[in-house]
Amino acid sequence: MTAGPAWWQRGAIYQIYPRSFADSDGDGVGDLPGITGRLDHIEALGAEAIWLSPFYRSPMADFGYDVADYRDVDPVFGTLADFDALLGAAHARGIRVVVDWVPNHSSDQHEWFRESRSSRDSPRRDWYVWHDGDGAGGPPNDWMSEFPAVGRAWSLDEATGQWYLHSFMAEQPDLNWDNPEVEAAMHDTLRFWLDRGVDGFRVDALQRLAHDPLLRSNAGAARRRDQDWETMHDRLRGIRRVTDEYEDRMLVGEVAIDDLHRVVTFLNDGDQLHLAHNFVFADLPWSAEAFALSIADFEALASGVAWPAWFLGNHDMPRVATRFDGGTGLGPARARAALLLLYTLRGTPFVFQGEELGLPDAEIPADRVVDVDGRDPERAPVPWRPPSAAGPGAGFTTGEPWLPIVGAAEALNAETQAADPASTLSLTRRLAALRRATPALQLGAQRALRLAEDVLAWERSADGDRLVAAVNFAAAPVALAAVDGLPGRAALVVSTDPARAGGDVALADLALGPAEGVLLRL
Ligand code: GLC
Repeated sequence: MTAGPAWWQRGAIYQIYPRSFADSDGDGVGDLPGITGRLDHIEALGAEAIWLSPFYRSPMADFGYDVADYRDVDPVFGTLADFDALLGAAHARGIRVVVDWVPNHSSDQHEWFRESRSSRDSPRRDWYVWHDGDGAGGPPNDWMSEFPAVGRAWSLDEATGQWYLHSFMAEQPDLNWDNPEVEAAMHDTLRFWLDRGVDGFRVDALQRLAHDPLLRSNAGAARRRDQDWETMHDRLRGIRRVTDEYEDRMLVGEVAIDDLHRVVTFLNDGDQLHLAHNFVFADLPWSAEAFALSIADFEALASGVAWPAWFLGNHDMPRVATRFDGGTGLGPARARAALLLLYTLRGTPFVFQGEELGLPDAEIPADRVVDVDGRDPERAPVPWRPPSAAGPGAGFTTGEPWLPIVGAAEALNAETQAADPASTLSLTRRLAALRRATPALQLGAQRALRLAEDVLAWERSADGDRLVAAVNFAAAPVALAAVDGLPGRAALVVSTDPARAGGDVALADLALGPAEGVLLRL
């Protein structure tokens, strides 16, 4: 790294789940013009980039992660012209645009799959993973879908008498990446969006892109055979070569593997991923000890070869404010502390829409459940305005929202929070602005500190500027007893507790409230 940070290191990347962000036409589903209409919010958040979950043509079995045409926008989200308008408007504000790329599987309605399934002799038969059954009426092997409700990762096609692989839903057949024609066709889908001007890709379910070509069962194997196979890395280098045909583009991978040693192999050598989502970190319990170990592990394994990417929420996991509540009632405060952590750790923060509002999961009545894997609560629409003023759609839609609006919308909507300096939204804006103005928080060095039991603390420094962040994970106040190698006094720059006064503090007198996070300048 010579000059300044790369754009994807500088500030947060904000994840938009288009169905639930903003609906411009009243059909109850968010769309691309809705996003364009809300760029003020994203700009005020100081986001470096937005990552858009899929908006491609799709029958929506998995709400867009089942792509029927990689080169077009689904009518529910708008048109290609709407996409170009969003891209242009974002770029005009200096906001980069990262799109989701779903290379492992298409929709079963994609023309490639229709042709593939039409007969055993179809020239596209080998574009997907077909195999005879086990001879006893069962599938070829013991591989399971990522979704427990789906069960086996194989479905029988009655007409041709063979089974096809689907690592997710049956409506999402796995493409056969062992076939070079498939690889080339998928590379072309990257070029299609790169030519339009996108700044990068979030690569969906990357670990699934390479499996044992002999389709042997997992049982008895030392390592799973249905993912992360040795062919993975050449395949990923091929993808990287395509993005490197264009200037300054970025690849972030969804590497959903719970072993950091393996995750880091996707990042090595500068010719694979720029960033990998760290699921080990995202799946941690709310424990200072666990967080400290996980951060240290990543630093130890990856230092020198990889830049960290931190996230605690996305469209696939319960929201931070709910998940970390643990019956303490501290969920909202912990969600604020989590934001301080994300914005001040060394690495790129990924923030999921609504996290800046501290949204909890929505209650989904049984008759409104639509997702196969229980992910509706975190996908509830963003409340933009108080329902008392904007109607039951909370400024998200004038129609009937596709998922219920979160119960706390009256207090937690964006408009109300923007007017309140004590709100989570105001805190997030302050953290983003600080990071933007502070080189030490961008590329600065990081050192773990041990300030007290249950307190996660670290120092960031660059060019003589030294900052300390500390988060109290306990449900009770904690005094910072051992102040290891630090000066006696510091300036309190930010606290996640709006009641805490800023200014000069004596470190030895500082007691952090339950779930309080602070940023101090030494
Ligand atoms: C990824 C996506 C998830 C989707 C799955 C299949 O895990 O984040 O939403 O269901 O891949 O594409």
